[in-house]
Amino acid sequence: MNKALFSRREFLQTTAGAAGASLLTGSNFLEAEPIPSSSQSVAPSDRIRFGIIGVGMEGSNLLTTAIQLPGVECVAAADLYDGRHELSKEIVGKPIRTTRRYHELLDSKDIDAVIIAVPDHWHKQAVVDALAAGKDVYCEKPMSHNPADGLAMVAAAKKTDRIVQIGAQRTSSVLCAKAKALFEQGAIGDMNLIEATYGRNDPNGAWEYPLPTDLSPQTLDWDTWQGTAPKIPFDGYRFARWRCWKEYGTGVAGDLLVHLISGMQFVLGINEPPKKVSAFGGIYRWKDGRNMPDVHPVLFEYDNVPVYMRLSLGCESTEVTRFQGSKGVIELREFSVSYTPQFGVDTSPSYYSASFPAAMRNAYVKEWHEKHDPTPGQEPALETITYNGNDYDDLKPHLWKFFEAVRSRKPVLQDAVFGHNAALGCHLANESYFRGTPVYWDAASGTIKSLA
Ligand SMILES: NC(=O)c1ccc[n+]([C@@H]2O[C@H](COP(=O)([O-])OP(=O)(O)OC[C@H]3O[C@@H](n4cnc5c(N)ncnc54)[C@H](O)[C@@H]3O)[C@@H](O)[C@H]2O)c1
Repeated sequence: MNKALFSRREFLQTTAGAAGASLLTGSNFLEAEPIPSSSQSVAPSDRIRFGIIGVGMEGSNLLTTAIQLPGVECVAAADLYDGRHELSKEIVGKPIRTTRRYHELLDSKDIDAVIIAVPDHWHKQAVVDALAAGKDVYCEKPMSHNPADGLAMVAAAKKTDRIVQIGAQRTSSVLCAKAKALFEQGAIGDMNLIEATYGRNDPNGAWEYPLPTDLSPQTLDWDTWQGTAPKIPFDGYRFARWRCWKEYGTGVAGDLLVHLISGMQFVLGINEPPKKVSAFGGIYRWKDGRNMPDVHPVLFEYDNVPVYMRLSLGCESTEVTRFQGSKGVIELREFSVSYTPQFGVDTSPSYYSASFPAAMRNAYVKEWHEKHDPTPGQEPALETITYNGNDYDDLKPHLWKFFEAVRSRKPVLQDAVFGHNAALGCHLANESYFRGTPVYWDAASGTIKSLA
């Protein structure tokens, strides 16, 4: 056989010998932080009465989960679509006040806190109004619809002593906490790249949701729903599929990327926008009139390392974030986090020696083994350790952290500044896509600027 045609893999297989490292796999289950059961009695002074603003797809999840927590009670729900008044009563299972006007909740003295789960274009106004009314706020991700909204929300939060927690829930998961601990212990050595990816490939995943069958200008306050967006005649598709349009949503960036960014900020212990961003993409798969891209690969610089995040509604792929460094990889997934160490040194003679004449190659390989082969029985082992745990998208731990903060008045990790920075990453990704140039955040002017 012509040695010059050896592939890298074939060469390593034939020369690895005793220097080859064994790869073992271990697995552990991470217990979630204990949350007392809802049947546990709570002193009346510790009970929290909350209202919910927006009881749609996510609001209904939040409501269902929040009422399972001990000492937490929903007393009112606001939504512009009447069908969701009925839904909120069904979820709570006992009489609660319902209204189209969220200000009625904010004016109520018996409400301590509000959960806000309206579309992105309503986040700023609802949060600013809730804080002005003295309520603690849990607001869904992405915190803002645009940078100006984010700045206004941070300013409003700083003016009060109210708790503001943003709803990118995985920062409260045990899996992210484990990834953070591994990173802080130096498991991956010097970090030099982060990559994350997530893809969907079905109409639901691409936000082509079915319309509520009784939706009409009679059952929905369409005018108010549009908020500050340009006013158009009643359009049920805009109501149910608002993520498709930039006038209301923030695309795959604000819907999905924000989770990856928030998780990354938490693991790395950073709280700042990216230094620069370059995004690509287009509408490749879902040509249904939307104006947000359905394929959106984004290259960021965060914490002085490149971060490559690829979002797609055009082809399914599992969600994973890989923190890569000189000593190995931390891989974060929905139900697990694993750490695979790497030696970072040669474990076999160089495949470059395949280009040496036979006598020279044999001498090099022999000498290499003499110098580098470990003593038999003392071969170092590279072991991938996998920690399994509860779904990192479970809402319960994150809601529990919020209500605990409402009781204790201790600050939360995912506050308005954290949420603003995570959302900025998304806005920069969208802006780079629309402008077709790399962009950066100019903190002095509070605007996004082009680099090119
Ligand atoms: N954390 C997560 O994993 C997660 C998952 C899904 C959605 N979300 C976020 O939750 C928010 C809501 O998303 P959704 O899918 O539930 O949307 P949705 O359209 O299903 O529900 C939103 C509801 O808000 C109501 N609404 C709009 N403006 C209002 C106003 N001014 N006053 C009262 N009610 C108003 C609408 O009538 C609607 O019922 C979004 O910001 C989204 O990004 C987060």
